[in-house]
Amino acid sequence: MISDVLDVAIVGGSGYAGGELARLVHGHPRLKLEAITSESLVGTFVHHRHPNLRSAPRMKFIGIRDLHRYDVLFVALPHGRSIHYADLLSGASRYTVDLGADHRVASEEIRGEYYPDLKGVEPYTYGLPELRRSELGKSRRAAGPGCTAAATILGLWPLARAGMIGGGPVVVEAKVGSSAAGASSNPSTHHPERSGVMRSFAPVGHRHVAEVREQLGLESGVIHFSATAVEAVRGILVTAHCFPRSPIGERDLWRAFREVYDDEPFVRIVRERRGLYRYPEPRILAGTNFCEVGFEVDPKTGRVVVMSALDNLVKGAAGSALQSLNVMAGFPEEMGLQFSGLHP
Ligand SMILES: NC(=O)c1ccc[n+]([C@@H]2O[C@H](COP(=O)([O-])OP(=O)(O)OC[C@H]3O[C@@H](n4cnc5c(N)ncnc54)[C@H](OP(=O)(O)O)[C@@H]3O)[C@@H](O)[C@H]2O)c1
Repeated sequence: MISDVLDVAIVGGSGYAGGELARLVHGHPRLKLEAITSESLVGTFVHHRHPNLRSAPRMKFIGIRDLHRYDVLFVALPHGRSIHYADLLSGASRYTVDLGADHRVASEEIRGEYYPDLKGVEPYTYGLPELRRSELGKSRRAAGPGCTAAATILGLWPLARAGMIGGGPVVVEAKVGSSAAGASSNPSTHHPERSGVMRSFAPVGHRHVAEVREQLGLESGVIHFSATAVEAVRGILVTAHCFPRSPIGERDLWRAFREVYDDEPFVRIVRERRGLYRYPEPRILAGTNFCEVGFEVDPKTGRVVVMSALDNLVKGAAGSALQSLNVMAGFPEEMGLQFSGLHP
């Protein structure tokens, strides 16, 4: 157990995940933001990039090479950059949470299949406390989950844990908001090309399958994953179709979900009988660290449909990172993460 306030540096703080980390760190009673980096905006006030942080203490972006040693390092860099800066970043903190994919996958075999560029990289503890709480409690380094992976894993974890899937295929469709692609623009994110679209961008081959397979302990070929860009800034909605070999009843599903999530502070089982919000819905989760999960069984075919929703920048990125830090540092797990969301 540690005391006092921990000083924090955010690496890649001008990006969307980095901005969310800054927002959450400012609201955390045991953390103080000391440094935030951007290579392109050195010397610029942080609130010029993240105007929602105007009321936070004023600070300017610094370069990665100007970092010193901090209690906590959050790394929110593009793929492969964390490894690139390893000499500067490793050893620069007591606790590190890397939000990128560089340290997420432990199995050399699975990593080699999806990330051949990350051969030999040291894995960190997977930063999803719902699955890895006890390991995180003994760790000082965590790898934040991918956003669509977090939603998929949290949706399917009750079934995987109960041995209800694995026999048949699981077909996952993830609808993804535009902020999942980060703050830097490219032709596909240009407003006339992005606005109003429903675009299949990864019908096959999405790399988040690697961590889904590893965390759920599923054999190769069980998970079939497709991702579609939809008209939203924040939010992921995952619909997973499971085709179990033997029939699964509604009661079994309730039991499996309740056993896993009844005591979880940030996962809500949503399956209402009436009203508009009968199933998980990303919009009301914007800005929150909640993931909502729900399910339905098709009585005619036995297909089990699992739905899960979260904000890709919070529970899918900065929120899970902070939750993992809370566990590693011995803080109450919900500290600084209790915003309920907005409606309408
Ligand atoms: N967006 C999401 O929903 C989400 C969810 C989960 C995980 N993640 C992961 O979190 C990480 C950050 O994602 P993001 O969406 O926040 O990306 P982003 O908005 O594009 O931000 C990337 C950050 O990295 C910095 N950067 C870019 N190139 C760099 C380089 N060559 N050297 C040093 N710094 C560099 C950028 O700063 P400057 O360009 O200003 O230098 C910026 O601060 C990624 O690994 C991503 O996979 C993102």
